[in-house]
Amino acid sequence: MAEIEQQSAPGSEWWRTAVIYQIYPRSFADANGDGIGDLPGITSRLDALGELGVDAIWLSPFMPSPQKDAGYDVSDYRGVDPLFGTLDDFDTMLAAAHDRGIRVIVDLVPNHSSDQHRWFQEALKAAPGSPERARYIFRDGKGAHGELPPNNWESVFGGGMWTRITEPDGTPGQWYLHIFDTSQPDFDWTNEEVREEFRGVLRFWLDRGVDGFRVDVAHGMIKKAGLPDYTPAPSGGSMGGDDVEDVPYWGQPGVHEIYRDWHRVLAAYDGDRALCAEAWLPTLEQTALWVRPDEMNQAFNFGYLMTPWDAEELRDVIRESLDAFGAVGAPSTWVLSNHDVVRHASRLALTIDNPQGEGIGPRDEPKPDRALGLARARAATTVMLSLPGSAYLYQGEELGLPEAMEIPDEYRQDPTWFRTNGERYGRDGCRVPLPWSGTAPSYGFNDTGASWLPQPAEWAEYARALEEGSDASTLSLYKTLLRLRKERGLGSGSLVWEDLGSDAVAFRRGDLHVAANLGTAPLALPAGAVIVVHSAPQSGAVLPPDSAAWYTLS
Ligand code: GLC
Ligand code: CA
Repeated sequence: MAEIEQQSAPGSEWWRTAVIYQIYPRSFADANGDGIGDLPGITSRLDALGELGVDAIWLSPFMPSPQKDAGYDVSDYRGVDPLFGTLDDFDTMLAAAHDRGIRVIVDLVPNHSSDQHRWFQEALKAAPGSPERARYIFRDGKGAHGELPPNNWESVFGGGMWTRITEPDGTPGQWYLHIFDTSQPDFDWTNEEVREEFRGVLRFWLDRGVDGFRVDVAHGMIKKAGLPDYTPAPSGGSMGGDDVEDVPYWGQPGVHEIYRDWHRVLAAYDGDRALCAEAWLPTLEQTALWVRPDEMNQAFNFGYLMTPWDAEELRDVIRESLDAFGAVGAPSTWVLSNHDVVRHASRLALTIDNPQGEGIGPRDEPKPDRALGLARARAATTVMLSLPGSAYLYQGEELGLPEAMEIPDEYRQDPTWFRTNGERYGRDGCRVPLPWSGTAPSYGFNDTGASWLPQPAEWAEYARALEEGSDASTLSLYKTLLRLRKERGLGSGSLVWEDLGSDAVAFRRGDLHVAANLGTAPLALPAGAVIVVHSAPQSGAVLPPDSAAWYTLS
């Protein structure tokens, strides 16, 4: 059989091969003890990330915000929310990261602002048809008195996508569009004033020295002209990752012009500043359009993230990813967890369907098995970190953290929970503050024991300090994988597929072989296999079910 070899698109820019660690600032480390993580907390813990071996960090939003959607509702794009510190704290953090050779990407939220943003407040005070209203998407309602929303779109977080305002004179007035919460009005990106404002925002952070941006909801910024009615398929993920091709508010072609514009803004700066798209789209081919040479640099590979634990599907998605992104000269990215999905140490052991945004909570039974989930997560990561391209890690996955599945209702904060009247738990379960040390108050997240979401008792077992002392820990596995990935240059180059049977995912990167067993029976590795790293240590040259290894042949 002819060898099937796939090549990762060549190029020397750092983002083509980087391992980028997502920090969710409110849950990473809390320096002032108020129960919410902050920028000084990040600075104080950067050494741990240096030791882990990541190339860059991406910070979820820390800009001024009423925190209705955990900071994804920005009221001032050029500052730091006092909850997280000051601009000086940001500069200190950035310099400390750069000193350690760690690049820094910040989150840009251009689809919508907070309703407390100065522009939206001005729009409320201004008249229909005014330039102030034209920065957002205001429309007259339907019905004899405008009492019905302009169309039938449903918010990602549940409920309608339109909210009616009261005009300055006290009469019921126009409606404004919000893909997400009522407190997150969508900008009108056909308006040049909005475009110019965001060029300025990009330059503000680029001037401070950031290495790039993760672009929030990069598939939603342009809406189909005429805003036609649309009813989503009941099963699809709420962010649009289902297989529907033409959703009037996702993936509209007009977005590409915006990214070409931003590409030019970044190109005027030194170094390789990067743009990474959060774009939930039906196919990898479509996602690849976001990373054509004159647009963004990376797009999250949500097709990979959403792939179930199935050998054929995993082989297919890796093959299709390398093809689709390679066809436009971009690296593939690889990602298994983030702050919007069930952590992969739990998700990969789910026995029932759980679309994005659903979450897992107390009334869900059966719960995913912890040991099975962890075994699969370790195997999945062992495969992921061997792949050519850039990989994203989400804070806590290096500890093997499961989803927090028993958060009591009264602590829930995700707008999804409120807007669906508790029907969907939402995303709080993957956002619980990290355990640093097993015995300290709040497991070392701070010194006071305060925590904005309660930490499960089992967090003690996953504390970083404990895992640092154990060769068998998930943290040690991640460190080994990251060190070897760098030493062997696995972020670039080609991949040659190998055949170890239908339950296996197997390929070769140079003389390093990678194999995972997604079946139910043990799988013997070829004769002469010498294990380099194994997700199930102590197994010798055998892959137990739900394990993966890197090996050479003697
Ligand atoms: C993105 C963010 C998510 C947020 C939403 C609205 O999907 O990742 O956390 O709720 O955008 O900004
Ligand atoms: Ca704090």
